[in-house]
Amino acid sequence: MTGGNRGFGAELCRLLLERGAAKVYAGARDVRSISQEGVVGVQLDVTSASDIASAAEHCRDVTLLVNNAGISTDTSILADGVVDAARRDFETNVFGPMAMNQAFAPTLATNGGGAIINVLSVLSWFGQPDLAVYGASKAAGWSLTNSLRQVLLAQHTQVLGLYVAYMDTDMTAGIDSPKSDPGEIAALTLDGLEAGAHEVVADDISRHVRSALSGDLDALYPVLGQ
Ligand SMILES: NC(=O)c1ccc[n+]([C@@H]2O[C@H](COP(=O)([O-])OP(=O)(O)OC[C@H]3O[C@@H](n4cnc5c(N)ncnc54)[C@H](OP(=O)(O)O)[C@@H]3O)[C@@H](O)[C@H]2O)c1
Repeated sequence: MTGGNRGFGAELCRLLLERGAAKVYAGARDVRSISQEGVVGVQLDVTSASDIASAAEHCRDVTLLVNNAGISTDTSILADGVVDAARRDFETNVFGPMAMNQAFAPTLATNGGGAIINVLSVLSWFGQPDLAVYGASKAAGWSLTNSLRQVLLAQHTQVLGLYVAYMDTDMTAGIDSPKSDPGEIAALTLDGLEAGAHEVVADDISRHVRSALSGDLDALYPVLGQ
């Protein structure tokens, strides 16, 4: 689990243990920030090639990789410094998971296939101007997830994308909107995993946006029709 020390990642770790996982590695940039009993802490900054290499070396019994770690610089598309902000969001949200997938795919193959969960967003499918950079990183994650799924079919690795709107974590602390309980989303995610799903589209907003993609753009973005 990348970003296993807090937020949604910590909820997933808790639930994995509750559902009987023999061992759960919680990756964290600072292992001292892991407070959950029962998990095995692993030093893991997903922007660090050496952290990823040593985690892959150390965690050879992994059967489920969860690319959960994520950041949002909350940058709009024409903001000052947008390119640097985009580099930061993409380093963690896109290049980190890419490197993790590459490092852990052989381990998953050796261990029978297993699974990868990529924690994505309704913003993989919807452009929200104030979060344009973050959304672009999650859109890239969607595309990469769909490619990865096909490539890993041969080694019997299930690849599941999670798409969700706001959850009540530190990431959304400053946002005054309805938010899902991360524990409930974690449960839906693991239910989907156990059912062999390719995707979990976890809430009404995400389901609405997903289905609206095939319709008229004005319906998805009412501002365009004004
Ligand atoms: N909250 C939402 O509404 C929402 C909605 C859709 C998708 N998501 C996605 O859900 C995932 C978890 O987010 P969250 O809501 O739980 O946010 P959060 O509470 O802010 O937690 C983010 C986690 O990612 C870790 N992280 C950040 N950069 C990292 C790096 N370079 N290497 C390793 N770990 C790193 C953080 O570790 P530190 O403690 O070291 O910072 C923390 O554990 C993210 O991918 C996010 O994009 C969230």
